[in-house]
Amino acid sequence: MNTILEVENLKVYFKTILGDAKSVDGVSLKVFEGEILGIAGESGCGKSTLVEGILKIYKPPCYIPEGKVYYKGIDLLSLPEEEFRKLRWKELSYVPQGSMNSLNPVIKIEEQMIDGILSHADITYREAKELALSALNSVGMPPDVLEMYPHELSGGMRQRVCIAMSLCLNPKIVFADEPITGLDVVMQKLNLQTLGDLRDKYGITVVMVAHDMACHAEICDRICIMYAGKVLEVGSTIDIFSDPLHPYTKGLLSAVPSLEKRNLKGIPGLAPSPLEWPSGCRFHPRCSYRMKICEEEEPVLEEVQPGRSVACFLYGGR
Ligand SMILES: Nc1ncnc2c1ncn2[C@@H]1O[C@H](COP(=O)(O)OP(=O)(O)OP(=O)(O)O)[C@@H](O)[C@H]1O
Ligand SMILES: [Mg+2]
Repeated sequence: MNTILEVENLKVYFKTILGDAKSVDGVSLKVFEGEILGIAGESGCGKSTLVEGILKIYKPPCYIPEGKVYYKGIDLLSLPEEEFRKLRWKELSYVPQGSMNSLNPVIKIEEQMIDGILSHADITYREAKELALSALNSVGMPPDVLEMYPHELSGGMRQRVCIAMSLCLNPKIVFADEPITGLDVVMQKLNLQTLGDLRDKYGITVVMVAHDMACHAEICDRICIMYAGKVLEVGSTIDIFSDPLHPYTKGLLSAVPSLEKRNLKGIPGLAPSPLEWPSGCRFHPRCSYRMKICEEEEPVLEEVQPGRSVACFLYGGR
């Protein structure tokens, strides 16, 4: 499988009066061409910050003290901003968290989509409209949506409009941050199917951020589990669900409801703060398998089976 995007030891920090919030603190991962990769983990673990770092769309007080991002071999973070701008939307596009609520309520969808296109492509209004129509079609929406105002659409449809916007310039990778949060189950299913279709019908690589493990199970090929600004486990969706290795992954999955499992366990304790991560393994204060070494040393993310990595002393980690 071809690697289309590679992240190496990426750190994304926020300067605060209490010191640096180390929200993403040394993440390495690969995205393969044509896959759907899920980024999972509890609220605040750094999922959105990771994507903002990769796409360099953060603003001060956020900064990147260290790390590399390669897209098709191009060192993205070293690119001058005007060069990076040429890649955004056209190659790497983004559906931000909460985007369905950020559509302007008093402007028709047509104008909002076309403004977005024209700010990234040197084409005519007519050509931009064709692109907008084709993007709407690829997310299964009729052309008359262009004539509508956001309030005339349901939350799920507004979210699909945002996905369509991200597709207008035929990107190679779409990053979708919490694309189904806040939708009812029918809309969730439909929108997940839309994301799945991007890959199946149009060959687009998808990186989907979601805290809900059930939606990763639905469409992802692989899942990357984040905790406290780090990646704790990566593997195929089947492996992660059938045999979770990291105690944190086991905890996340024990919190997914099903008919057989009504007595949900979840994970005891609270997620730590990026201003002061715990020593050693960042999960150790909440881990029921913790050993002495877990408090003292940080386990490294190690490949334990082909395509399966975990950062935990139960499986090596030194
Ligand atoms: N401007 C900021 N200043 C300081 N800390 C910040 C800032 N923005 C985000 N953070 C911190 O960075 C950490 C990671 O935030 P992020 O939004 O990436 O988490 P997330 O995994 O996407 O969570 P969610 O599932 O709730 O969307 C959080 O602890 C958050 O408080
Ligand atoms: Mg987020």
